[in-house]
Amino acid sequence: MRVLVVGSGGREHALVWALSRGGGVDDLHAAPGNPGIAALATCHPVRADDHAALGSLALELRVDLVVVGPEGPLVAGLADDLRRRGIAVFGPSAAAARIEGSKTFAKDVMDAAGVATARTLPVAQPPCVLKADGLASGKGVWICRTQEELGAALHSAEALGQPFHAEELLEGPELSLFAVAAGGLAVALPPARDYKRIGDGDTGPNTGGMASFSPLPDVPDSDAAEILETIHLPVLRELARRGSPFHGLLYAGLMRTEDGLRVIEFNCRFGDPETQSILPRLESDLLPLLLGDLAGPPAVSAGAAVTVVLAARDYPARSDDRGTPIEGVDAAAATGALVLHAGTALHDGTLVTNGGRILDVVGLGENVTAARTAAYDAASRIDFAGMHYRTDIAANV
Ligand SMILES: Nc1ncnc2c1ncn2[C@@H]1O[C@H](COP(=O)(O)OP(=O)(O)O)[C@@H](O)[C@H]1O
Ligand SMILES: [Mg+2]
Repeated sequence: MRVLVVGSGGREHALVWALSRGGGVDDLHAAPGNPGIAALATCHPVRADDHAALGSLALELRVDLVVVGPEGPLVAGLADDLRRRGIAVFGPSAAAARIEGSKTFAKDVMDAAGVATARTLPVAQPPCVLKADGLASGKGVWICRTQEELGAALHSAEALGQPFHAEELLEGPELSLFAVAAGGLAVALPPARDYKRIGDGDTGPNTGGMASFSPLPDVPDSDAAEILETIHLPVLRELARRGSPFHGLLYAGLMRTEDGLRVIEFNCRFGDPETQSILPRLESDLLPLLLGDLAGPPAVSAGAAVTVVLAARDYPARSDDRGTPIEGVDAAAATGALVLHAGTALHDGTLVTNGGRILDVVGLGENVTAARTAAYDAASRIDFAGMHYRTDIAANV
Protein backbone atom coordinates (compact mmCIF):
# COMPACT_ATOMS: atom_id res chain seq x y z
CA MET A 1 0.00 0.00 0.00
CA ARG A 2 1.11 3.50 -0.83
CA VAL A 3 -0.06 6.26 1.53
CA LEU A 4 0.27 10.05 1.36
CA VAL A 5 0.01 11.99 4.65
CA VAL A 6 -0.91 15.68 4.30
CA GLY A 7 0.53 18.11 6.85
CA SER A 8 3.81 19.07 8.48
CA GLY A 9 3.52 18.96 12.28
CA GLY A 10 4.02 16.60 15.18
CA ARG A 11 0.63 15.00 14.59
CA GLU A 12 1.60 14.10 11.04
CA HIS A 13 4.98 12.78 12.19
CA ALA A 14 3.11 10.56 14.67
CA LEU A 15 0.77 9.33 11.91
CA VAL A 16 3.68 8.59 9.59
CA TRP A 17 5.53 6.82 12.42
CA ALA A 18 2.49 4.66 13.24
CA LEU A 19 1.90 3.80 9.58
CA SER A 20 5.58 2.94 9.09
CA ARG A 21 5.46 0.45 11.97
CA GLY A 22 2.54 -1.54 10.62
CA GLY A 23 3.01 -4.18 7.98
CA GLY A 24 0.43 -2.78 5.59
CA VAL A 25 2.25 0.25 4.18
CA ASP A 26 5.29 -0.28 1.98
CA ASP A 27 5.58 3.19 0.49
CA LEU A 28 4.98 6.33 2.54
CA HIS A 29 4.81 9.90 1.27
CA ALA A 30 4.12 13.24 2.93
CA ALA A 31 3.20 16.72 1.71
CA PRO A 32 4.88 18.87 2.75
CA GLY A 33 6.19 16.85 5.73
CA ASN A 34 9.17 17.92 7.84
CA PRO A 35 12.75 16.75 8.53
CA GLY A 36 11.57 14.14 11.05
CA ILE A 37 8.97 12.76 8.67
CA ALA A 38 11.62 12.67 5.93
CA ALA A 39 13.40 9.86 7.79
CA LEU A 40 10.34 7.62 7.28
CA ALA A 41 8.64 8.94 4.15
CA THR A 42 9.33 10.75 0.89
CA CYS A 43 8.43 14.41 1.38
CA HIS A 44 7.01 16.52 -1.45
CA PRO A 45 7.04 20.33 -1.40
CA VAL A 46 3.26 20.70 -1.77
CA ARG A 47 1.28 22.72 0.72
CA ALA A 48 -1.66 21.26 2.64
CA ASP A 49 -3.98 23.96 1.28
CA ASP A 50 -3.11 23.44 -2.38
CA HIS A 51 -5.94 21.04 -3.27
CA ALA A 52 -5.18 20.88 -6.98
CA ALA A 53 -1.48 20.12 -6.49
CA LEU A 54 -2.23 17.52 -3.81
CA GLY A 55 -4.67 15.80 -6.17
CA SER A 56 -2.11 15.74 -8.97
CA LEU A 57 0.58 14.42 -6.60
CA ALA A 58 -1.72 11.65 -5.34
CA LEU A 59 -2.58 10.60 -8.90
CA GLU A 60 1.02 10.77 -10.06
CA LEU A 61 2.18 8.63 -7.13
CA ARG A 62 -0.88 6.34 -7.56
CA VAL A 63 -1.42 6.37 -3.81
CA ASP A 64 -3.97 4.00 -2.30
CA LEU A 65 -4.92 6.43 0.44
CA VAL A 66 -4.47 10.08 1.41
CA VAL A 67 -4.58 10.85 5.15
CA VAL A 68 -5.31 14.51 5.86
CA GLY A 69 -3.87 15.90 9.12
CA PRO A 70 -5.03 19.52 9.60
CA GLU A 71 -8.59 20.87 9.84
CA GLY A 72 -8.22 23.88 7.54
CA PRO A 73 -8.04 21.90 4.28
CA LEU A 74 -10.83 19.53 5.40
CA VAL A 75 -13.21 22.36 6.22
CA ALA A 76 -12.25 23.90 2.86
CA GLY A 77 -13.22 20.70 1.01
CA LEU A 78 -9.90 18.95 0.34
CA ALA A 79 -11.42 15.49 0.87
CA ASP A 80 -14.23 16.28 -1.61
CA ASP A 81 -11.77 17.57 -4.19
CA LEU A 82 -9.62 14.45 -3.90
CA ARG A 83 -12.57 12.03 -3.94
CA ARG A 84 -13.90 13.75 -7.05
CA ARG A 85 -10.64 12.79 -8.71
CA GLY A 86 -11.08 9.17 -7.66
CA ILE A 87 -8.61 9.25 -4.76
CA ALA A 88 -9.38 7.41 -1.50
CA VAL A 89 -9.14 9.75 1.50
CA PHE A 90 -9.16 9.45 5.28
CA GLY A 91 -10.89 12.69 6.26
CA PRO A 92 -14.44 14.07 6.14
CA SER A 93 -16.19 16.00 3.39
CA ALA A 94 -16.58 19.76 3.88
CA ALA A 95 -20.23 19.17 4.79
CA ALA A 96 -19.30 16.73 7.58
CA ALA A 97 -16.27 18.79 8.66
CA ARG A 98 -18.68 21.59 9.61
CA ILE A 99 -18.93 19.74 12.94
CA GLU A 100 -15.61 21.53 13.64
CA GLY A 101 -15.88 24.42 11.17
CA SER A 102 -19.03 25.88 12.72
CA LYS A 103 -19.71 25.75 16.44
CA THR A 104 -23.36 26.72 15.82
CA PHE A 105 -23.78 23.83 13.37
CA ALA A 106 -22.18 21.48 15.93
CA LYS A 107 -24.62 22.63 18.62
CA ASP A 108 -27.53 22.13 16.27
CA VAL A 109 -26.39 18.59 15.44
CA MET A 110 -25.86 17.78 19.13
CA ASP A 111 -29.31 19.10 20.05
CA ALA A 112 -30.91 17.01 17.31
CA ALA A 113 -28.89 13.95 18.39
CA GLY A 114 -29.65 14.39 22.11
CA VAL A 115 -25.98 14.77 23.05
CA ALA A 116 -25.19 16.82 26.17
CA THR A 117 -23.24 20.04 25.66
CA ALA A 118 -23.02 23.50 27.26
CA ARG A 119 -26.37 25.33 27.02
CA THR A 120 -26.47 28.28 24.63
CA LEU A 121 -27.41 31.45 26.53
CA PRO A 122 -29.87 33.94 25.05
CA VAL A 123 -27.98 36.82 26.69
CA ALA A 124 -24.25 36.95 27.47
CA GLN A 125 -23.88 37.31 31.24
CA PRO A 126 -20.99 36.23 33.46
CA PRO A 127 -20.14 33.52 34.21
CA CYS A 128 -20.25 32.37 30.59
CA VAL A 129 -18.09 31.47 27.60
CA LEU A 130 -18.07 33.40 24.32
CA LYS A 131 -17.27 31.38 21.22
CA ALA A 132 -16.62 32.51 17.69
CA ASP A 133 -18.41 30.29 15.19
CA GLY A 134 -15.63 29.37 12.77
CA LEU A 135 -12.03 28.12 12.82
CA ALA A 136 -9.92 30.50 14.90
CA SER A 137 -6.75 28.49 15.68
CA GLY A 138 -7.60 28.35 19.37
CA LYS A 139 -8.14 32.11 19.59
CA GLY A 140 -11.94 32.22 19.33
CA VAL A 141 -12.97 31.22 22.88
CA TRP A 142 -13.21 33.58 25.87
CA ILE A 143 -13.91 32.42 29.41
CA CYS A 144 -15.80 35.22 31.20
CA ARG A 145 -16.13 34.98 34.96
CA THR A 146 -16.57 38.72 35.53
CA GLN A 147 -18.28 41.63 33.81
CA GLU A 148 -14.84 43.06 32.91
CA GLU A 149 -13.79 39.81 31.25
CA LEU A 150 -17.07 39.72 29.37
CA GLY A 151 -16.61 43.30 28.20
CA ALA A 152 -13.12 42.57 26.89
CA ALA A 153 -14.33 39.32 25.31
CA LEU A 154 -17.22 41.00 23.49
CA HIS A 155 -14.74 43.51 22.14
CA SER A 156 -12.34 40.79 20.89
CA ALA A 157 -15.16 38.65 19.52
CA GLU A 158 -16.53 41.54 17.50
CA ALA A 159 -13.02 42.35 16.27
CA LEU A 160 -12.69 38.80 14.88
CA GLY A 161 -15.54 39.59 12.55
CA GLN A 162 -17.25 36.18 12.88
CA PRO A 163 -20.63 35.38 14.34
CA PHE A 164 -20.32 34.25 17.98
CA HIS A 165 -22.51 32.92 20.77
CA ALA A 166 -22.51 32.78 24.57
CA GLU A 167 -22.81 29.50 26.44
CA GLU A 168 -22.88 28.13 29.94
CA LEU A 169 -19.49 28.00 31.72
CA LEU A 170 -18.83 24.40 32.69
CA GLU A 171 -16.31 23.22 35.27
CA GLY A 172 -14.33 19.99 35.46
CA PRO A 173 -11.38 18.10 34.04
CA GLU A 174 -11.22 17.80 30.25
CA LEU A 175 -10.45 14.80 28.10
CA SER A 176 -10.27 13.97 24.42
CA LEU A 177 -11.83 10.90 22.89
CA PHE A 178 -11.04 10.09 19.26
CA ALA A 179 -13.25 7.84 17.17
CA VAL A 180 -12.35 6.48 13.75
CA ALA A 181 -15.62 6.76 11.85
CA ALA A 182 -17.08 5.56 8.58
CA GLY A 183 -20.66 6.82 8.35
CA GLY A 184 -22.64 5.21 11.16
CA LEU A 185 -19.80 2.87 12.21
CA ALA A 186 -17.04 3.91 14.58
CA VAL A 187 -14.39 2.60 16.95
CA ALA A 188 -12.90 4.52 19.86
CA LEU A 189 -9.22 5.08 20.56
CA PRO A 190 -8.07 5.35 24.20
CA PRO A 191 -8.90 8.60 26.06
CA ALA A 192 -6.16 11.23 26.39
CA ARG A 193 -5.72 14.61 28.06
CA ASP A 194 -4.00 17.65 26.63
CA TYR A 195 -2.58 20.79 28.23
CA LYS A 196 -3.42 24.03 26.43
CA ARG A 197 -1.85 26.72 28.62
CA ILE A 198 1.77 27.74 28.15
CA GLY A 199 2.73 27.76 31.83
CA ASP A 200 3.05 25.26 34.67
CA GLY A 201 -0.07 24.98 36.77
CA ASP A 202 -2.22 25.88 33.72
CA THR A 203 -1.22 29.53 33.75
CA GLY A 204 -0.67 32.02 30.94
CA PRO A 205 -2.11 32.13 27.45
CA ASN A 206 -3.51 29.25 25.44
CA THR A 207 -1.31 27.51 22.89
CA GLY A 208 -1.80 24.93 20.17
CA GLY A 209 -1.16 22.37 22.95
CA MET A 210 1.89 21.94 25.17
CA ALA A 211 1.56 18.30 26.22
CA SER A 212 -0.66 15.24 26.45
CA PHE A 213 -0.83 11.86 28.07
CA SER A 214 -2.74 8.58 28.00
CA PRO A 215 -4.17 6.56 29.75
CA LEU A 216 -6.08 8.76 32.20
CA PRO A 217 -6.45 7.95 35.90
CA ASP A 218 -10.03 9.24 36.01
CA VAL A 219 -11.36 7.95 32.68
CA PRO A 220 -9.99 4.45 32.06
CA ASP A 221 -9.66 3.05 28.54
CA SER A 222 -12.60 0.77 29.36
CA ASP A 223 -14.93 3.82 29.50
CA ALA A 224 -14.29 4.63 25.84
CA ALA A 225 -16.92 2.27 24.43
CA GLU A 226 -19.72 3.82 26.46
CA ILE A 227 -18.66 7.38 25.59
CA LEU A 228 -18.59 6.37 21.93
CA GLU A 229 -22.11 4.98 22.27
CA THR A 230 -23.59 8.05 23.96
CA ILE A 231 -21.68 10.86 22.25
CA HIS A 232 -20.00 10.01 18.95
CA LEU A 233 -22.47 7.52 17.50
CA PRO A 234 -25.60 9.70 17.90
CA VAL A 235 -23.75 12.58 16.24
CA LEU A 236 -22.51 10.34 13.43
CA ARG A 237 -26.04 9.04 12.83
CA GLU A 238 -27.39 12.59 12.78
CA LEU A 239 -24.75 13.70 10.26
CA ALA A 240 -25.60 10.69 8.07
CA ARG A 241 -29.33 11.46 8.39
CA ARG A 242 -28.62 14.98 7.11
CA GLY A 243 -26.94 13.53 4.03
CA SER A 244 -23.37 14.26 5.14
CA PRO A 245 -21.94 11.04 6.59
CA PHE A 246 -18.63 11.52 8.39
CA HIS A 247 -15.63 9.48 7.22
CA GLY A 248 -12.50 10.24 9.19
CA LEU A 249 -11.51 11.02 12.75
CA LEU A 250 -14.23 12.44 14.95
CA TYR A 251 -12.64 14.01 18.02
CA ALA A 252 -14.81 14.86 21.01
CA GLY A 253 -13.41 17.41 23.46
CA LEU A 254 -15.23 16.57 26.68
CA MET A 255 -15.56 17.95 30.18
CA ARG A 256 -16.29 15.71 33.16
CA THR A 257 -18.71 17.91 35.11
CA GLU A 258 -20.58 17.06 38.30
CA ASP A 259 -23.61 16.33 36.11
CA GLY A 260 -21.70 13.98 33.84
CA LEU A 261 -19.79 14.32 30.58
CA ARG A 262 -20.49 17.36 28.41
CA VAL A 263 -19.18 18.02 24.93
CA ILE A 264 -17.03 21.15 24.70
CA GLU A 265 -16.46 20.80 20.97
CA PHE A 266 -15.96 18.36 18.12
CA ASN A 267 -12.97 18.36 15.82
CA CYS A 268 -12.90 16.67 12.44
CA ARG A 269 -9.32 15.34 12.57
CA PHE A 270 -6.66 13.88 14.84
CA GLY A 271 -5.83 16.22 17.73
CA ASP A 272 -2.36 17.62 18.23
CA PRO A 273 -0.68 16.72 20.62
CA GLU A 274 -3.05 13.96 21.87
CA THR A 275 -2.31 11.86 18.77
CA GLN A 276 1.34 11.71 19.81
CA SER A 277 0.34 9.99 23.11
CA ILE A 278 -2.42 7.79 21.66
CA LEU A 279 -0.84 6.20 18.58
CA PRO A 280 2.18 4.72 20.44
CA ARG A 281 -0.33 2.83 22.64
CA LEU A 282 -1.98 1.07 19.67
CA GLU A 283 -0.90 -2.53 19.35
CA SER A 284 -2.85 -3.23 16.21
CA ASP A 285 -2.04 -1.69 12.85
CA LEU A 286 -3.41 1.80 12.18
CA LEU A 287 -3.83 1.34 8.42
CA PRO A 288 -6.89 -0.98 8.45
CA LEU A 289 -8.72 1.53 10.66
CA LEU A 290 -7.98 4.36 8.24
CA LEU A 291 -9.19 2.17 5.39
CA GLY A 292 -12.54 1.72 7.14
CA ASP A 293 -12.08 -1.75 8.63
CA LEU A 294 -13.95 -1.02 11.87
CA ALA A 295 -14.89 -4.57 12.87
CA GLY A 296 -13.78 -4.00 16.45
CA PRO A 297 -11.82 -1.64 18.66
CA PRO A 298 -8.05 -1.72 18.16
CA ALA A 299 -5.80 -3.55 20.60
CA VAL A 300 -4.34 -1.03 23.05
CA SER A 301 -1.30 -1.52 25.25
CA ALA A 302 -1.72 -1.20 29.03
CA GLY A 303 1.40 0.99 28.97
CA ALA A 304 1.41 4.76 29.00
CA ALA A 305 2.68 7.64 26.86
CA VAL A 306 3.46 11.19 27.94
CA THR A 307 4.17 13.88 25.33
CA VAL A 308 6.01 17.07 26.21
CA VAL A 309 6.22 19.85 23.62
CA LEU A 310 9.47 21.82 23.35
CA ALA A 311 8.56 25.32 22.20
CA ALA A 312 10.58 28.16 20.72
CA ARG A 313 11.46 31.39 22.44
CA ASP A 314 8.46 33.71 22.92
CA TYR A 315 5.91 31.07 21.88
CA PRO A 316 2.91 31.56 21.88
CA ALA A 317 3.21 35.37 21.81
CA ARG A 318 5.35 35.08 18.70
CA SER A 319 6.11 31.99 16.69
CA ASP A 320 8.68 33.42 14.32
CA ASP A 321 11.85 32.16 15.99
CA ARG A 322 13.46 30.37 13.06
CA GLY A 323 16.92 29.08 12.20
CA THR A 324 18.19 28.38 15.73
CA PRO A 325 20.30 25.17 15.78
CA ILE A 326 18.86 22.22 17.73
CA GLU A 327 21.12 19.80 19.60
CA GLY A 328 20.63 16.46 21.26
CA VAL A 329 17.80 14.90 19.24
CA ASP A 330 19.77 11.69 18.67
CA ALA A 331 20.76 11.50 22.34
CA ALA A 332 17.12 11.95 23.32
CA ALA A 333 15.97 9.24 20.91
CA ALA A 334 18.71 6.92 22.20
CA THR A 335 16.95 6.84 25.58
CA GLY A 336 14.06 5.04 23.88
CA ALA A 337 11.77 8.06 23.72
CA LEU A 338 10.09 9.02 20.49
CA VAL A 339 11.19 12.44 19.26
CA LEU A 340 8.65 13.85 16.83
CA HIS A 341 9.27 16.96 14.76
CA ALA A 342 6.66 19.70 14.94
CA GLY A 343 8.41 22.85 13.68
CA THR A 344 11.90 22.04 12.42
CA ALA A 345 13.85 22.67 9.23
CA LEU A 346 17.24 21.67 7.81
CA HIS A 347 19.75 24.42 7.00
CA ASP A 348 22.81 23.03 5.21
CA GLY A 349 22.32 19.72 6.98
CA THR A 350 21.85 21.25 10.43
CA LEU A 351 18.54 20.79 12.23
CA VAL A 352 17.13 24.19 13.18
CA THR A 353 13.95 25.61 14.67
CA ASN A 354 11.21 26.65 12.29
CA GLY A 355 8.90 28.53 14.66
CA GLY A 356 6.26 27.78 17.28
CA ARG A 357 6.21 24.31 18.71
CA ILE A 358 9.49 22.70 17.69
CA LEU A 359 9.66 19.08 18.94
CA ASP A 360 7.37 16.64 20.75
CA VAL A 361 9.13 14.26 23.10
CA VAL A 362 7.06 11.14 23.78
CA GLY A 363 8.09 9.08 26.79
CA LEU A 364 6.80 5.52 27.04
CA GLY A 365 6.53 3.41 30.15
CA GLU A 366 4.53 0.77 31.92
CA ASN A 367 2.52 3.48 33.68
CA VAL A 368 2.09 7.25 33.44
CA THR A 369 4.74 7.96 36.09
CA ALA A 370 7.34 5.91 34.23
CA ALA A 371 6.36 7.50 30.90
CA ARG A 372 6.60 10.97 32.44
CA THR A 373 10.11 10.22 33.77
CA ALA A 374 11.11 8.91 30.34
CA ALA A 375 9.75 12.00 28.57
CA TYR A 376 11.55 14.44 30.84
CA ASP A 377 14.78 12.43 30.77
CA ALA A 378 14.76 12.58 26.96
CA ALA A 379 13.71 16.25 26.86
CA SER A 380 16.63 17.19 29.13
CA ARG A 381 19.05 15.97 26.44
CA ILE A 382 17.72 18.38 23.82
CA ASP A 383 18.76 22.00 23.67
CA PHE A 384 18.24 25.07 21.53
CA ALA A 385 18.46 28.72 22.45
CA GLY A 386 15.16 29.87 23.91
CA MET A 387 13.74 26.33 24.33
CA HIS A 388 11.04 26.04 26.96
CA TYR A 389 8.55 23.40 28.05
CA ARG A 390 6.16 22.66 30.87
CA THR A 391 7.58 20.71 33.79
CA ASP A 392 4.31 19.66 35.45
CA ILE A 393 2.91 17.31 32.82
CA ALA A 394 1.23 14.19 34.23
CA ALA A 395 2.61 15.03 37.68
CA ASN A 396 0.81 13.33 40.57
CA VAL A 397 -1.12 11.04 38.23
N1 LIG B 1 -18.63 25.90 27.94
C1 LIG B 1 -17.38 25.89 28.43
N2 LIG B 1 -17.16 25.90 29.76
C2 LIG B 1 -15.90 25.93 30.26
N3 LIG B 1 -14.80 25.95 29.52
C3 LIG B 1 -14.94 25.94 28.18
C4 LIG B 1 -16.22 25.91 27.56
N4 LIG B 1 -16.05 25.92 26.23
C5 LIG B 1 -14.71 25.96 26.03
N5 LIG B 1 -14.04 25.98 27.18
C6 LIG B 1 -12.57 26.00 27.36
O1 LIG B 1 -11.97 26.62 26.24
C7 LIG B 1 -11.13 25.69 25.53
C8 LIG B 1 -11.26 25.94 24.05
O2 LIG B 1 -12.60 25.75 23.64
P1 LIG B 1 -12.96 24.86 22.38
O3 LIG B 1 -14.43 24.86 22.22
O4 LIG B 1 -12.27 23.57 22.49
O5 LIG B 1 -12.38 25.75 21.19
P2 LIG B 1 -11.11 25.65 20.23
O6 LIG B 1 -10.40 24.37 20.51
O7 LIG B 1 -11.74 25.72 18.89
O8 LIG B 1 -10.31 26.87 20.56
C9 LIG B 1 -11.62 24.33 25.99
O9 LIG B 1 -10.64 23.36 25.89
C10 LIG B 1 -12.03 24.60 27.42
O10 LIG B 1 -10.90 24.60 28.27
MG1 LIG C 1 -10.56 22.70 21.58
